[in-house]
Amino acid sequence: MNREEIAALKGRLRIPVMAGPMFIASTADLVIAQCKAGIIGSMPALNPRTTEALDADIGRIKAEVGDAPYAINLVAHASNSRLEPDLEVVLRHKVPIVVLALAANPDLVRRLQDNGALVFQDVVRNRHAQKAAQMGVDGIIAVGAGAGGHTGNISPFALVQEIREWWDGLLILSGCIANGRSVLAAEAMGADLAYVGSAFLASEEANTQAGFKQMIVDCAADDILVSDSFTGVKATFLRPSIVENGLDPDNLVRAAGKAINIDGGGDNAKAWKEIWSAGQGIGAVKVAGPAGEWIGTLVDEYAEARRWLADAG
Ligand SMILES: Cc1cc2nc3c(=O)[nH]c(=O)nc-3n(C[C@H](O)[C@H](O)[C@H](O)COP(=O)(O)O)c2cc1C
Repeated sequence: MNREEIAALKGRLRIPVMAGPMFIASTADLVIAQCKAGIIGSMPALNPRTTEALDADIGRIKAEVGDAPYAINLVAHASNSRLEPDLEVVLRHKVPIVVLALAANPDLVRRLQDNGALVFQDVVRNRHAQKAAQMGVDGIIAVGAGAGGHTGNISPFALVQEIREWWDGLLILSGCIANGRSVLAAEAMGADLAYVGSAFLASEEANTQAGFKQMIVDCAADDILVSDSFTGVKATFLRPSIVENGLDPDNLVRAAGKAINIDGGGDNAKAWKEIWSAGQGIGAVKVAGPAGEWIGTLVDEYAEARRWLADAG
């Protein structure tokens, strides 16, 4: 995407924010609420239980949001047996934005782009960003330290700085962004959009238990543990949810031979369903409620942050 196309995309939003897709938690209702409130909504293709359910969900999203931009996340990993059928649904519906996670390949990128989709890839280091750019993606999502889910471990300052040295295209910053000031800070650092995940775990429309929503409201950065014990890959988890499952967060043992397996099963399924993931930015989330209301607050905070900075200058 060139700068003009990026400006046009931003011009369609109320605030420069895209929702991060979240395994289990993101629903079609959440995507619809996010888009109606003026941000780019998103969800993983795997959240609807079957490819047929994904087909129905995308149909409903399209009917509700019209031509507002939304994204579907495809996991391009060998363990995802649904990739090909889900991809066919995504192509048939002409989903406008596809977020690729894990091992994406140039053929997949080309098939999506030939069909009119914008393809975004998330990365945790500059080297991955360069690979994504070589594959011809339209947008790079830089996942910094502290992000929810399969987190990064590089400071967002370093990551954005390194990528912006050579990448003039769409850059989205992910990790701990959950208030208006942080959205403005992401732009000041050189990102075009801020990517918000964990804050939406407290949304009414999210498929999260009441206890999970409350934990998002009650917890802050100190309550987040980074561990590879559950999925074989470093991810962030809420300490209280580990304790509630009878485990000691400070003495977790990583089972031998674990590798990422997005088809779930075993501890991996437990990791996202009962041991809950969230990023370090959740201290900013003070209430659980409709996503649209929270986005409204974010919009007000963002406007206030811009005024504050203008006054400070
Ligand atoms: C519970 C949870 C599940 C997630 N699942 C996915 C996923 O399935 N696919 C994906 O690309 N990113 C996933 N993410 C990452 C988010 O899309 C996003 O990058 C991240 O939440 C942003 O950081 P933040 O949580 O600090 O806002 C997940 C994050 C969380 C917290």
